[in-house]
Amino acid sequence: MKGLILAGGSGTRLRPFTHTSAKQLIPIANKPVLEYVVNDLKNAGITEIGVIVGHTKKEVMNFLGDGSKFNVHFTFIEQDAPRGLAHAVLIAKEFVGNDAFVMYLGDNLLSNGIKKMVEKFKNSDYDSFLQVTPVSNPKEFGVAVVKNNQVIEVIEKSPNPPSNLALVGVYIFKPESIYHAIGRIKPSKRGELEITDAIQQLINLKYKIGVFEIEGWFKDTGRPEDVLDA
Ligand code: DAU
Repeated sequence: MKGLILAGGSGTRLRPFTHTSAKQLIPIANKPVLEYVVNDLKNAGITEIGVIVGHTKKEVMNFLGDGSKFNVHFTFIEQDAPRGLAHAVLIAKEFVGNDAFVMYLGDNLLSNGIKKMVEKFKNSDYDSFLQVTPVSNPKEFGVAVVKNNQVIEVIEKSPNPPSNLALVGVYIFKPESIYHAIGRIKPSKRGELEITDAIQQLINLKYKIGVFEIEGWFKDTGRPEDVLDA
């Protein structure tokens, strides 16, 4: 399996820090969030890692290097503007090739990591694995409606979320199904190709999707209060 880290985006909610630094490089307990992400992928046995970079590419690439200091190999993929999480997957198509991959949002922290999820996926015949966790502020996340262990609907930052189960920013996809799904979506109202819309297409197309509540905590370090919390 491969890894795909999303380290582009604009980081507007973390200004003023992100005027001068990429949000994925904000240190948490003296280590950039991105370093935890790389180590988590490596710990799950994933060493072939694509990294989506945007306007902060210089500092992200400087920090990561070619991967040798982490014992992994990086392929950098440039995104011209933050056109959405599904757009990032789209431009990584050549890197992904025929391999299943873990898509990891470069500003997410998971206390228990992804190793278990990856192992479970490898021993399954599923097309995709998603992780969820109950949150008190579901309007700020993509959320999933889950019935009998089946995900029946996903929706991005709804003003009236139908569930309090937030989608965690780590997803496992297989190329055939996810590119099929992305081919069927259009940019959202905010002008982005949303990964939640692509996942909704996976549901509509009846692909096999596994959904799990995470153990431990997850933190999206997108806002200053989240960084403090983390
Ligand atoms: O943290 C979990 C949430 O992450 C999910 O619940 C949502 O469904 C999902 O859409 C996502 O929401 P965010 O609003 O937090 O995503 P954000 O724009 O912060 O982007 C996440 C990461 O991906 C961040 O490291 C920046 C990077 N990114 C983002 C965009 C839009 C890119 O590399 N390219 C992009 O085009």
